[in-house]
Amino acid sequence: MTTATVPVTITINGEPRELGVAPSRTLLDVLRNEAGLTGTKKGCDVGDCGACTVLLDDVPVNSCLVLAVEANGRRVTTIEGIAPDPDRLHPLQENFMALGASQCGFCTPGIIVMAKALLDRNPNPTEEEIRFGLAGNICRCTGYTKIVEAIQVTARQMAADAGKPA
Ligand code: FES
Ligand code: FES
Repeated sequence: MTTATVPVTITINGEPRELGVAPSRTLLDVLRNEAGLTGTKKGCDVGDCGACTVLLDDVPVNSCLVLAVEANGRRVTTIEGIAPDPDRLHPLQENFMALGASQCGFCTPGIIVMAKALLDRNPNPTEEEIRFGLAGNICRCTGYTKIVEAIQVTARQMAADAGKPA
């Protein structure tokens, strides 16, 4: 017997996607398996690690804790869609690479999505605010110092690009 599916329309990275999903499927599994967007990672699958962080209507969520049907009619942004220019990386992505803020990389998409949400609402965060903002995102490799540095550098660059003092 196959599980019944329900039709949903989710705007993923700006593109409306019509999908048939089982009511029990998580947004994380649908993004990775049905939508083919494997940048979002499955770590714990129970809301503890933050590897699955995406933006739902611009608010960061653990996509392993959201049912795909809850995203019906809403906007989802994944790591694949955070750059303003689809042909370029987001400055956070560039700085994470340049400054060694990613090692195994498993946590990186979730942390970058969370950092984007942080900078969108607070373009000039203190170190404490960055560390607090990332409290739900676990990294086993880096010790966080370079992650915080990459976010601070990005904030300064974005302020400079906007013509404002950081
Ligand atoms: S996979 Fe969702 S919080 Fe860990
Ligand atoms: S870079 Fe490996 S878990 Fe963060």
